[in-house]
Amino acid sequence: MAQHDRILILDFGSQVTQLIARRLRESGVYCEVWPFNAAAPERIHAFAPKGLIFSGGPASVTEGASPRAPQEVFEMGLPILGICYGQQTMATQLGGTVEGGHAAEFGRAVVTVTGECTLTQGLWAKGATETVWMSHGDRITVLPPGFRVVAESEGAPFALIADESRHYYGTMFHPEVVHTPHGAALLKNFTHGVCGCTGDWTMAGFRDEAIERIRAKVGKGRVICGLSGGVDSSVAAVLIHEAVGDQLTCIYVDHGLMRANESDQVVATFRDRFNIKLIHRDASDLFLGQLSGVTDPEQKRKIIGRLFIEVFEEEQNKLGGADFLAQGTLYPDVIESVSATGGPSVTIKSHHNVGGLPEGMRMQLVEPLRDLFKDEVRALGRELGIPEEIVGRHPFPGPGLAIRIPGEVTREKADLLRKVDSIYLEEIRAAGLYDAIWQAFAVLLPVRTVGVMGDGRTYDMACALRAVTSTDGMTAEFYPYDMGFLGRVANRIVNEVRGVNRVTYDITSKPPGTIEWE
Ligand code: XMP
Repeated sequence: MAQHDRILILDFGSQVTQLIARRLRESGVYCEVWPFNAAAPERIHAFAPKGLIFSGGPASVTEGASPRAPQEVFEMGLPILGICYGQQTMATQLGGTVEGGHAAEFGRAVVTVTGECTLTQGLWAKGATETVWMSHGDRITVLPPGFRVVAESEGAPFALIADESRHYYGTMFHPEVVHTPHGAALLKNFTHGVCGCTGDWTMAGFRDEAIERIRAKVGKGRVICGLSGGVDSSVAAVLIHEAVGDQLTCIYVDHGLMRANESDQVVATFRDRFNIKLIHRDASDLFLGQLSGVTDPEQKRKIIGRLFIEVFEEEQNKLGGADFLAQGTLYPDVIESVSATGGPSVTIKSHHNVGGLPEGMRMQLVEPLRDLFKDEVRALGRELGIPEEIVGRHPFPGPGLAIRIPGEVTREKADLLRKVDSIYLEEIRAAGLYDAIWQAFAVLLPVRTVGVMGDGRTYDMACALRAVTSTDGMTAEFYPYDMGFLGRVANRIVNEVRGVNRVTYDITSKPPGTIEWE
């Protein structure tokens, strides 16, 4: 299998390190993010990168124990780009001086271009002023030998520095964030122009290689995959099916708390369209039965998680077991995080997108998406011909509608919520807003309110509509619909769903709210 051009990103703990990787992948460059202290020289040699990028980080190089790049990387003859903290540690390690105590610059800043280099070629002309995004307190005061200034700002006289003979570059600003308008292009000048990457990382290529890798790993073994209807497990299933065909069986545990028509769609897509062996287990009686009388959100989650595992195991036992368990783990779940102080890296997030699969299952894992970011998984899904309704789908929580029905969950309430939710989503799609929103859904409120319909008084349930924008679900802003849209949706819900007579819109951001109500 041909090896792609690759760039290694050493992480010094910046909040936006992953964005460097995403910008590089977007320009067709394969890259990995390693904690700076996991980058032993032999490991770097084995990885064979065409260049290195040092990320930003929260530490100050003026403090004694602050993180450093392994000194050997400066003897490898590889191009290096240091960003923010990365620039400062590079400068320090190469004989320059960095000092604290200067006015900090945060957010938008303007730099004046005073020179030329490969990084700015075709983008920043000498004499121009350019917008960038800064976030730093310290700054370089004496350049290391061989470097010269290419751009400066009031707060950062060494905003962009270069030593073109050694192919070393450093920026005080963050090219990886969208607030630096030419940032992605500057990074591309580094990877393509300086390091000589060709942009050979494509989804079509990945698909073929991933199929080969799966075949090599699985051999004649049997694979089972828990399908949830979400993007990750769907893409993993179709990819594995392309690799090993009928050796794959998918298990779809239907807890009765899915959105309207979603179960039919899963069956139609995977069984009928892709010809994947699919077990559709309708376990709604079991789940709803055990949820009866339960009102505490965490209790609901526990019950659903436990039953999910039980049912999944039951189904896989009926199959007579399998050798491999497929999971839709993604790259952000496996990137080792570096602690803010630069201490040893320990935390590896583990995440199961199917709501927690059995720990004790004695099967090897197949995780064909573990090198990919979410947007790459979507691109791969499109490459595999998975319908847009699935590939572009909003995230949906494992416990489903149970956490969108505060209070006790019943089948009647779930049915009511499905009706409300599908009108809401239909209107969002009709208005062309679906892709602009990270997540949108309705919540059935545990209150009854008085209304009037025709000549009669009603005393029915109220619902809330929720829509947020976000990049990762960690923070979120409510979506600013126009009032005409909300009025139209409310009108349809109250007129078309018997039992609901009031609609509210949730305008809480996260924090302090959360996206879900429970
Ligand atoms: P919150 O409500 O914490 O949600 O702001 C952040 C994101 O996580 C999803 N979410 C869950 N997903 N099981 C899941 O698989 C859960 O128990 C769960 N709770 C919240 C939520 O939909 C949002 O995308």
